[in-house]
Order: sequence, then structure tokens, then C-alpha cells
Amino acid sequence: YRCTTILGSCGLSKFTFHPRDSTKVCIRNKSFKSGGDGVFDLNQYPVHSYFLNDKGKSVASYFNDKAIDEAAAKQSVRLKTYIILYSARDSAHVLKSAQYLQKELPIRIARTITQFRSLPFIIGCNPTILSVHELYIKAFYILTEFPKIQTREDESRYSKLLVNLLDAYKDVVTELANGFKECRRKVDNEDAIRAFLDKTLTSRLGIRMLAMHHLSLRDEKPNHVGIINVQLQLKSVVEKWADFTRRIAFHRYGRAPEIRLSGHVHASFPYIQLPLDYILPELLKNAVRATVESHPNPHQLLPAIYVTIANNDRDFIIRISDRGGGISHDLVSKVLQYNFTTAAENSTDLQSESMFSGFLDIANSSTGCPMFG
Ligand code: COI
Repeated sequence: YRCTTILGSCGLSKFTFHPRDSTKVCIRNKSFKSGGDGVFDLNQYPVHSYFLNDKGKSVASYFNDKAIDEAAAKQSVRLKTYIILYSARDSAHVLKSAQYLQKELPIRIARTITQFRSLPFIIGCNPTILSVHELYIKAFYILTEFPKIQTREDESRYSKLLVNLLDAYKDVVTELANGFKECRRKVDNEDAIRAFLDKTLTSRLGIRMLAMHHLSLRDEKPNHVGIINVQLQLKSVVEKWADFTRRIAFHRYGRAPEIRLSGHVHASFPYIQLPLDYILPELLKNAVRATVESHPNPHQLLPAIYVTIANNDRDFIIRISDRGGGISHDLVSKVLQYNFTTAAENSTDLQSESMFSGFLDIANSSTGCPMFG
């Protein structure tokens, strides 16, 4: 573990990790001012008191940054969907939108950085997690150092910068998953990690949506105001993901159940499709996988999956019904936890017992199966 080198470089060369608890180190160095030989709980010490990362940069610099503290303390201005929907669609508006982002993104990124700072010591020092932390610090400075946006040309350069950032940061979730995988044995406070992931991933989605909204405003796509599709047709979104899911099921299992749609199939309303594009394929994959796996006989007809759409003036509901055997009662409370997956149920992989195994499957998805995890 990198800490070995790090502590070594601070002159505490004679130490070992505690044999049963890697959040503690045993130090055998009489001159150590905190009391000579003994077992020290790393969580008792502030990260920046003695840690250096592999490039020799003091981790203190990750934690003491006035500009980030100040930005994080500023009031964030939330963009209301109805304001977006009724906003003008002209070049002056695109300029205003970029000026809004120039103020808003650094605040949100600074808050994300404070989340990294509040991670338990041993997790926050993991090199992979530290590298994501560093990525956000970089993004913060790239965005704050951009000159004040005043003209269409400034806006255009700013938008190009956003396109590049969105692309450069697309693997952040995979990197985080890798980082948590590396330190999974050191996690003793699951709630803190869960809170970190909830906040960081939600905030990341918000940041990306704002950036994408601005870029879409410039595209002037028909039926769209930025990322709002003013005539979203649920039927076509569900159909798109049903086709996708069936294709990967054919690839994985050689067969797939039919997916039938009914209910308010003509429903159409203004909506942001992006979150649906995350959620629907996951739910449909669950349903398809459960159906196939609970009907192992390849000659048996697979029961169809029924998707029902219902909407009124206020809400819409998409119900997905499958005959894949259901979820046993003792697992129901776990299904929304990052650590829960049935992906490794039949394997001997001990990682499946770790807190982040479900989340970790994202990290493995390039080599693993896109059907679950
Ligand atoms: C992310 O994708 O994680 C971001 O925060 C993107 C942002 C730097 C534009």
C-alpha cells in the first residue's frame, strides 16, 4: 500500500500495518514524538499531517485551498425546469446560460471536493480516490481561470472547454469504483461511504446535466429546449431501451423474453430524458436477466415482460412486470444499496461479500457482463 512509502518518506521508517486492522500502524521508533513504540489509529491523525502522494506533492495542498473553501461556501443557484422551458431561444440566452455556468459550476465542483475531503482518512488517501479528488481540483481551476465570458466568441470557447471536460471526466465513476475496490478491506464506516457516494454521484449528475443543457441549447434540436424534450414520448424511450436490453440478452444468453408495452402509450410531455436513460436499461436488464435465469431450459418459452405506462397531469409511472421469480423478502431492504448485487451469487468470488461489490461491477463492466452489476 502506498502509505508505506509515504510514511517512510517522513522518516518513520520502522512501522508496519497492524496485522488485523489496516487502519492502524505499529510504529517502532523511539524518537517518534507521539510516544515511541505503539499502535496508532490512522483515523486519529489529520491526513495532511504527514502524508505525501506519489508525486511528492503534499496531500496538505488537497485540503488547504482557500479558493475552493470560498467557492464551496457560496450560494448555488438552482436552475428551475419551468424557467428553462419558457426561456428565450436566442443567442443572448445562450450567452446568459454560459455566464450562469461560469458562476455555478465552480461552486458545485468545490462542494464535490469538500466531499472528498470528508472521506475517512484511510479511504481519502487511496491513490485512485486521491487521483479523482485531484481531477476535480483541476476542473475547478480550469473553470475558474477561464476569463469572464462577455462575447459570443468567449461563449464558444467556453463551450468547447465544456465538451472536452465532459469527455475527459466520463470515467470518473469507474475510477471511483476502482478506488473503493482497492480499499474495500479498510472500510469500517459504511454509512460515511454511502453518504459520500450519494452526494458525489448526485452532484456529478447535476453538474453534467447543466453542462449538457447549455451545449444542447446551442444545438437547437427540434422539440428541445436544451436538454428538455418538450414532447417526450415515453413509449419510444421504453422501446429504445427494450430493444437494447433484448440485444444484449441475445448476446449473453442466446435468447430474450418479449417486452410488451401497454397503457398510456400515446403519453407525451416535457421531460429531461437523461435520468430515464440511466434507469430504464438497468430495470429492464434486471427483468430480462431474472426471466432468463429462472427459466433455464433453453427449449422452454420465456414469459413476456409487460411494461405499463400510466400518466396524469402531474406524475407518470412505468411499471415493469416480469415472471423472473421476484425478490425474496430478506433482500428487499438491500436492493438500493451500493453493495448489493446478485451478480456473483453463483461464483466463488469473495469480493461479492465486500461492501462495494455491486458498485464494483461497473468497474469490471468492460471485461464482465453488461447484463448486470
Ligand atoms: C464529471 O463528469 O464528473 C464532471 O464533473 C464534469 C465537469 C468537470 C464538467
